[in-house]
Amino acid sequence: MNILIIGAGGREHTLAWKLKQSPKLNKLFVAPGNAGTAAIAINVLIDVNDFEAIKTLVNKEGIDMVVVGPEDPLVNGIHDFFLKDSELKHVSVIGPRKMAANLEGSKEYAKEFLFRHNIPTAAYKSFTSDILEEGYSFLETLKPPYVLKADGLAAGKGVLILNDLQEAKDELKTMLVDAKFGSASATVVIEEFLAGIELSVFVLTDGKGYKVLPMAKDYKRIGEGDSGLNTGGMGAISPVPFADKVLMDKIQEQIVKPTVEGLKKDNLPYKGFIFIGLIKVGDDPFVIEYNVRMGDPETEVVIPRIKNDLVEVFQAVADQTLDAIDLQIDERTATTVMLVSGGYPEAYEKGKEITGFEKIEDSIVFHAGTDSKDGKVVTNGGRVMAITSFGTDFKEALLKSYQNINKIHFDKMNYRKDIGFDL
Ligand code: AMP
Ligand code: GLY
Repeated sequence: MNILIIGAGGREHTLAWKLKQSPKLNKLFVAPGNAGTAAIAINVLIDVNDFEAIKTLVNKEGIDMVVVGPEDPLVNGIHDFFLKDSELKHVSVIGPRKMAANLEGSKEYAKEFLFRHNIPTAAYKSFTSDILEEGYSFLETLKPPYVLKADGLAAGKGVLILNDLQEAKDELKTMLVDAKFGSASATVVIEEFLAGIELSVFVLTDGKGYKVLPMAKDYKRIGEGDSGLNTGGMGAISPVPFADKVLMDKIQEQIVKPTVEGLKKDNLPYKGFIFIGLIKVGDDPFVIEYNVRMGDPETEVVIPRIKNDLVEVFQAVADQTLDAIDLQIDERTATTVMLVSGGYPEAYEKGKEITGFEKIEDSIVFHAGTDSKDGKVVTNGGRVMAITSFGTDFKEALLKSYQNINKIHFDKMNYRKDIGFDL
């Protein structure tokens, strides 16, 4: 089978690394990919939203399956584009269609879905600029901190958590009236604040049945002790030590099942990953967000723990025979630590030579923002590489990642030295 992965990050390198292990794989393409995927697959320099260029590649190379990494092309309807085209409709696409991708593309749509299907989540109301005053009144009924969310995709920056009422009102106005996040904040969801510890559950569904994949916890803030600005994710651990059987059963019954059933009831055919962001309040899980893809860097710890042939699993998603797959999970803990460019998540430099990573044997090096230049591997993004290790517990796994990170160098390299500090 010939497979194309869409995307360029650590998530896509991990998917490529795993698919590459399958005897069922013939040729593997990644568009656009990074220096890591270039070493194990064929990179094709195509923008993830250039569907016509993707179509040309699929036809030329006889690609049978397209695995979509990031949310953008899904929200833009790449799956529907394939289904509507007589030359492409035989190609399997792993990733939901445009309507269901709205679960990530619109916070308001996701909240309506959650309430319609009685899935635990924070109370909310949504507002547009013509009812700004009602937004102010609603804020006055809430206790701080105030949670303001841009409805649309805002590159992970669209959520504001504010302690001061006046500041919350000012930000609401900036979002709605001054288009702080462009058209993404034309609608703003104001939500009750939930205090608790976060974790993520990943589900793979074929639209009929589903498999719950290993859970993971990621570390979003740039600074140690969860301080400073939000990033795409600085590290991850799977499994999550506090997610015991009681919590897992609640997540399964109260959240995963009604989500998959809800998709069916709403007539939203879904073939792909559902990433459910959860917060544990007391002993109970609440949904804070849906993503319609795998997480990054969560993929770097979840996928390595799956023992099955991933080509077979994806084929079962395409054929709607996922129920027949016996998912085998590695019992060990996997951890990943993200190496980032100095300055990230604000301005940072690119093009720095990366050395030492080739020598690492007992960790897996997943490239994120890397590129090849004159035979060297150089930095090409804020998040540069994720170093994944296995251990009997997260401490043992992390120790391996940190020991191996000491062998890797690039100018202004930064990483968090306290992944797992809260566990
Ligand atoms: P989201 O983009 O919806 O995942 O939100 C980004 C981050 O904001 C989450 O990872 C949480 O840390 C935080 N957050 C979102 N919604 C809430 C909420 N209702 N209560 C507390 N924290 C929240
Ligand atoms: N690590 C969070 C995300 O992928 O959205």
